[in-house]
Amino acid sequence: MAEELIEPQSRFLRACRRLPVDATPIWLMRQAGRYMPEYRALREKHSMLDLIGSPELAAEVTLQPIEAFDLDAAIIFADILPPLIGMGLELEFVKGVGPVIHNPIKTTHDVDMLAAPPAEVHLSATLKAIEMVVRELEPKGIPLIGFAGAPFTLASYAVEGGGSKDYARTKALMYSEPAAWKRLMDKLVTVQADYLVKQAQAGAAVLQVFDSWAGLALGREAYLRYAAPYNRKLFAMLAGTGVPVINFSTGTFPYLEDVAACGGDVIGVDFRMPLGAAWEKIGFDRAIQGNLDPMTLLAPRRELQYHVDRVLAEAAGRPGHIFNLGHGLFKTTPVEIVRWLADYVHERISGQ
Ligand code: CP3
Repeated sequence: MAEELIEPQSRFLRACRRLPVDATPIWLMRQAGRYMPEYRALREKHSMLDLIGSPELAAEVTLQPIEAFDLDAAIIFADILPPLIGMGLELEFVKGVGPVIHNPIKTTHDVDMLAAPPAEVHLSATLKAIEMVVRELEPKGIPLIGFAGAPFTLASYAVEGGGSKDYARTKALMYSEPAAWKRLMDKLVTVQADYLVKQAQAGAAVLQVFDSWAGLALGREAYLRYAAPYNRKLFAMLAGTGVPVINFSTGTFPYLEDVAACGGDVIGVDFRMPLGAAWEKIGFDRAIQGNLDPMTLLAPRRELQYHVDRVLAEAAGRPGHIFNLGHGLFKTTPVEIVRWLADYVHERISGQ
């Protein structure tokens, strides 16, 4: 593609390509959300799914942190779970509980009943919101990130019916019904790849794939057998978009090289591993995103500063570091600390 030959100007896009930058780019997972009073005000009037289902409101929430802080990227306000609705699952965000799926997959027959509609059928509001946000952000030179869940992480919600501590039902299906597991994961790859490609077509400049729970549920052998083949397929299907792809997971340090081998221009790493050691495993020919523990933002400033400095020192000024948290912002994070963090990271030269 012609655009690929032109060097991007934005710090974030440059770092995705490991080009030199004038300051370390920073954005924060869950940067649009409950820690912001502007978000809480909207949530008093609208449910989570209503916000996601309205292009105007989703665009507004996406832009809230961009207006408030000096961040280098926006991420579209949506969630990894709504694509499951189009597949036939009844999703609800329950106050104080989190996401609940009222008709989780219980049998191999349930797997075969799942639909795989194209994104424009059920997810058009998010695609429209992307177009609206991109129009707003273009003059500011700020890129927008589109995202989706990785097949394993989505399968875990579809089978457990919500969050889980042991992933018992998911792993029972995976180990006991390997053929049905394959059909489930293949359907998820089809739906997620289509959704991500259409987000790029709508204007998302970068795509992030969230495999939030693979590393917590799976050891290396299980990951290689039951998750990696589908991640590999998914990343291969995104290559044609020409936009950089971020491969994010948590708890995968013991086999991070296998995670990275699945694909992605940028590897997102959690806070459980030192960023330098993680980068060595991934290889310095790939960009890295991370990895401040989000809870340090609730600590005294001096402690927080120590941890931010450590992350920057681990990156050692190499091109291709995108500063982020090792998981999402916690809901009680003070807004002024987020502002301080963005400014501080921009002022610091990595590695010094
Ligand atoms: O990062 C952003 O600002 C973009 C929006 C975004 C949300 N969810 C909004 C959200 C993104 C990128 C996600 C991804 C997501 N959603 C993941 C992967 C990232 C991760 O954290 O590992 C997962 C596992 C989910 C599923 C999900 N959605 C859970 C478990 C919950 C409940 C937990 C919680 O924080 O309440 C949600 C709800 C959710 N998604 C909220 C937001 C802002 C809170 C909803 C509210 O306002 O009540």
